Amino acid sequence: MKVRVCFVCLGNICRSPTAEATMRWLIEEESLVGAIVVESAGTGGWHVGDPPDLRARAAAKDRGIDVRGRARQFLERDFGRFDYVVAMDRANREDLLRLAPNEDARGKVVLFRSFDDDAPPNAEVPDPYYGGEDGFAHVLEICEAAARGLLRHLRDRHVL
Ligand code: 4NP
Repeated sequence: MKVRVCFVCLGNICRSPTAEATMRWLIEEESLVGAIVVESAGTGGWHVGDPPDLRARAAAKDRGIDVRGRARQFLERDFGRFDYVVAMDRANREDLLRLAPNEDARGKVVLFRSFDDDAPPNAEVPDPYYGGEDGFAHVLEICEAAARGLLRHLRDRHVL
């Protein structure tokens, strides 16, 4: 059984594509390709069709992580396509909980950093869009720690 994960931020051009690419990179490293499917989306629609932010691409490239794809908006029907809907910050989580059509869908929504044992409760992936380059390096570090935790969780919870 495949486990399906969608990472969700606001614009789907900075944080969630970085989370998706980092997770895919770990999945390849752990030979779990095919067992875990990852995608990303935004709660907002302003950047639909846009490629990831160049600053996010550059920060990840230094680690050998390829941030790619085109932005899309997370829609209500997407809840049926994923087992985990992973929010980057609390506003994203609130927006997703409002969009969720039922209790089953609400139960899929979780904060990304909740999988990082070293992060405080309710920790967020900060929005780097209006900041400098170092914000993107910071996001990448956060994503790597959280993605490692998420992968551990998926291994423990599902037979992979
Ligand atoms: P993201 O970053 O949610 O990590 O993709 C943002 C991208 C664009 C905007 C805000 C955040 N924006 O306001 O256009």
